[in-house]
Amino acid sequence: MTDKAVFLCFCLLLKKGVIGDTDEVKSVSALEGDSVSLNTDVTEVQRDDQILWMFGPQNTRIADIHRQNIYIDATNTIFEKRLQMDSQTGSLTIRNIRSEHSGLYKLQIISSRGTEEKLFNISIYARLPAPVITRDSSQCSSGSSTSNCSLVCSVVNVSAVTLSWYKGNSLLSSISVSDLSISLSLPLEVEYQENNTYSCVINNPITNQTQHNINITQLCHTCAELDERLKHMMPIANMTIIAGLLAFIAAVVGLRYHRNIRTIVQQFTQCTQA
Ligand SMILES: *[C@@H]1O[C@H](CO)[C@@H](O)[C@H](O)[C@H]1NC(C)=O
Ligand SMILES: *[C@@H]1O[C@H](CO)[C@@H](O)[C@H](O)[C@H]1NC(C)=O
Ligand SMILES: *[C@@H]1O[C@H](CO)[C@@H](O)[C@H](O)[C@H]1NC(C)=O
Ligand SMILES: *[C@@H]1O[C@H](CO)[C@@H](O)[C@H](O)[C@H]1NC(C)=O
Ligand SMILES: *[C@@H]1O[C@H](CO)[C@@H](O)[C@H](O)[C@H]1NC(C)=O
Ligand SMILES: *[C@@H]1O[C@H](CO)[C@@H](O)[C@H](O)[C@H]1NC(C)=O
Repeated sequence: MTDKAVFLCFCLLLKKGVIGDTDEVKSVSALEGDSVSLNTDVTEVQRDDQILWMFGPQNTRIADIHRQNIYIDATNTIFEKRLQMDSQTGSLTIRNIRSEHSGLYKLQIISSRGTEEKLFNISIYARLPAPVITRDSSQCSSGSSTSNCSLVCSVVNVSAVTLSWYKGNSLLSSISVSDLSISLSLPLEVEYQENNTYSCVINNPITNQTQHNINITQLCHTCAELDERLKHMMPIANMTIIAGLLAFIAAVVGLRYHRNIRTIVQQFTQCTQA
């Protein structure tokens, strides 16, 4: 009996003061434009409980609930009208979240059982554009490697991403950027007759965009055709010119003995006019 009383007392002592490990930070990742909810894990806020949300290095109070009254700092220029608090749980929702809302959020639950604190670290990532595949036609005119085709995978205006080329499931090459917002491109050299499936992937730690099953035959078509046409046309063009010259010389030489120059010139003029 007395043991039980001591144990109960001990429990109450333990429960007074700060419960929960403040050093423990819960990481939350989200995309720009998402709605992010930070949960108190409270099932029902009691009448005398106070739930307090703070943000940033100064622990600025942004929202709280006390005696069942919800207060949201309407003057906060960072959050404007994005904050919402659940009256039953005290959980905080940030709507249409932006990168300036990333950082540390501190939750304080003050109740008759003591004060509990929790930290949330929100990281915001940009939504990614789909990568664009183009053919590097500058390689076309070089004529040095007609069996190869140069492709370029590119994205504009990105930061903290990796851009990669895959052949099937295996990584061929990749390039990464950190914070700067820049344009990225990654080249790939393939052969015209390619049956493998290629894809280009852009990713950040929480999302990705992919150009799947790139049709090499289709992309490399134009340049390959151009190369082929040039290859066939050059000899044909040369032959035509040479044949024409030979015919002209033969005609001049052959006719010289039978007709005068004037007639030849007349005939030639008629010939070219016809
Ligand atoms: C919060 O997360 C970012 C990475 O997303 C990290 O760089 C930073 O150190 C974290 N802050 C804390 C206090 O854990
Ligand atoms: C690049 O991104 C910034 C914001 O991140 C935006 O203001 C700008 O218009 C974008 N530029 C292009 C070319 O998309
Ligand atoms: C053609 O592309 C292959 C890769 O598909 C590469 O190994 C080879 O070196 C390239 N050849 C030339 C001449 O660029
Ligand atoms: C590509 O596939 C065709 C049939 O679809 C086959 O005839 C050809 O040998 C294949 N080429 C290579 C390089 O695997
Ligand atoms: C892209 O994201 C999907 C989930 O959205 C994931 O299953 C896939 O493995 C990711 N791909 C890469 C290459 O990161
Ligand atoms: C690739 O494109 C070519 C030409 O447009 C087409 O004939 C072929 O079927 C395509 N291949 C695939 C796998 O989609």
